[in-house]
Amino acid sequence: MSSNHAWQSGLYDNKLGFVSELGKGVVEWLDPQQGERILDLGCGTGDLAYAISKAGANVTGMDLSDAMIEKARDKYPDIRFITGNAEQFQVAEPFDAVFSNAALHWMKNAGQVAECVWHALKPGGRFVAEFGGRGNVEQVVKAIGAVLEENYGIDASGLHPWYFPSIAEYSSLLERQGFHVAYAVHFDRPTPLPDGEEGLRHWLSGFAGGFFESFAEEERSKAFANIAAKARDDLFRDGSWRLDYKRIRIKAIKPSSRAAI
Ligand code: BEZ
Repeated sequence: MSSNHAWQSGLYDNKLGFVSELGKGVVEWLDPQQGERILDLGCGTGDLAYAISKAGANVTGMDLSDAMIEKARDKYPDIRFITGNAEQFQVAEPFDAVFSNAALHWMKNAGQVAECVWHALKPGGRFVAEFGGRGNVEQVVKAIGAVLEENYGIDASGLHPWYFPSIAEYSSLLERQGFHVAYAVHFDRPTPLPDGEEGLRHWLSGFAGGFFESFAEEERSKAFANIAAKARDDLFRDGSWRLDYKRIRIKAIKPSSRAAI
């Protein structure tokens, strides 16, 4: 996943496990087949790699975080998990499909990712992915920006740790690489967080650390409380936080022959 984000695999599984749960629909788009070689890019703690393997596919999970890979290996000892950077990887033997859920938005060098995926696929292979699209978690980003600006005089725009492209931007990027974009959708997915009042704090702690790298622990907690107060009217309803997720889901094919496009 992200190069400068310190992943906490326990927090990810215990408090943010909904990420994999919501990714099950992308596995349906992937439609894994018995015996296929499939790479799960940004596999986290391995839950979707496991779901894919249940179809009889031969899955390799890859993640930048050693902590995530260690946990994935503990949970699913029969699956191959490797540490690797999705922005610069090569494979010895190409795959039938590359899959990714909720990981590409951590990779700002999206062109490099597309190039690596291209080389990792057999001709005719497919790339199926879901990740945050333009406008994703905008209300949260707005509240973070306001608290950083008002309370600390920090301009948050340069600290934004995520890549949330429009569907046109991402499809064009894949087409420039040579892919045929077969399906692409950009849709709203309001996402309830677990743990009631505490939900947003867990989310910020697990995912938004990039904005607060210069903060000591105590100051960070105060900032999180202020962000929750700012975002509450828009995002807290009936006892839980509901974040304004917007997803891109895409299926792209590496043509069997480049001349065919
Ligand atoms: C997402 O899954 O959309 C997401 C997760 C963490 C940070 C930003 C977005």
